[in-house]
Amino acid sequence: MSFTVLAIETSCDETAAAVVQLQDAPPAGGLPQLRLRSNVVHSQQDQHALYGGVVPEVASREHLAKLQGLVRQAVAPVGGLAAIDGIAVSRGPGLVGALLVGVQLAKGLALALERPWLGIHHLEGHLCAALLTERPPSFPHLALIASGGHTQFVAVRAFGDYALLGGTRDDAAGEAFDKGGKLLGLGYPAGAAVDALAQTGDPTALRLPRALPKDDAACSFSGVKSALARHLAQAGPPTPRRRADLCASLQQAICEVLVNKALRLAVRHRLPGIVVAGGVAANSLLRRLLAAGCEAAGLWHCAPPLQLCTDNAAMVGAAGALRLAAGERSAYRLSVRAR
Ligand code: KG4
Ligand code: ZN
Repeated sequence: MSFTVLAIETSCDETAAAVVQLQDAPPAGGLPQLRLRSNVVHSQQDQHALYGGVVPEVASREHLAKLQGLVRQAVAPVGGLAAIDGIAVSRGPGLVGALLVGVQLAKGLALALERPWLGIHHLEGHLCAALLTERPPSFPHLALIASGGHTQFVAVRAFGDYALLGGTRDDAAGEAFDKGGKLLGLGYPAGAAVDALAQTGDPTALRLPRALPKDDAACSFSGVKSALARHLAQAGPPTPRRRADLCASLQQAICEVLVNKALRLAVRHRLPGIVVAGGVAANSLLRRLLAAGCEAAGLWHCAPPLQLCTDNAAMVGAAGALRLAAGERSAYRLSVRAR
């Protein structure tokens, strides 16, 4: 018996739908058997790039225009909406107007299909992306969530059993990539562009601050952006070659801190492996440092494929399938949450 879930994600500037199937009830303490049947994402980045950041009303209108078509596409491989046993949707944190589009469609479908629906915490979704990989992680583990809005270290003892160990005191890691990239003229969001340019740059070209070196659980990224801004104000606009060097230096400063802190926390809390999630987990240096650091420390690691790291509905479906199959439901009056 499988349980088939339609998942919806509209928390920010990605409109996404997916279908995830829970193959069997997970054995006690064992790994859930999840199968990803479809995963479609419409990125609105081009619309927002014009403004240098996400414009909430533009995001909501674009979700309204695109979501229905994406849901149709997502359910096609399982034979349409009639095959859906439940609906999972991101209910926050995120932009309220954007979240409402997804949640309202989920409620409408639940009403029409007479199926249960469930609001999912967007960050639990990120944590569950790893469960859809070929070799899903075992529990317990340390999870590093690094996205445009969040940077957190979480002890994951079992599915649904989370303890927040720490995180950023100011800017999120993705925000540091985006703000640094903006100073370097790379548009919005800039993380992937910084990553690409950094490939040919020298990461030792500019020494950017590594804040809070003695605190394993807390990080701070606002100083990285300020230091880069000060450097550019003094040195003037960079040549293309210098720009690649500055991208590599920025990337090194952010990723080194994230990976070193995650490694120290995992060891301190006796967690045998590290899972990364969120858009910044798509970063090539972060993935390299994580693999090397975990190997040296005798830890396992799991870095999901890039399309499961950035915002998507498959991750929401993974969390939703496990919770819905266990009997959890949201009430019709449940609303969205900004934070
Ligand atoms: O998880 P996500 O798609 O959305 C949020 O929930 O925030 O993360 C988006 C963030 C952006 O800040 C973006 O610049 C960053 O992830 N990002 C990257 C890379 N790809 C996306 N940062 C560094 N390197 C990348 N390759
Ligand atoms: Zn996200």
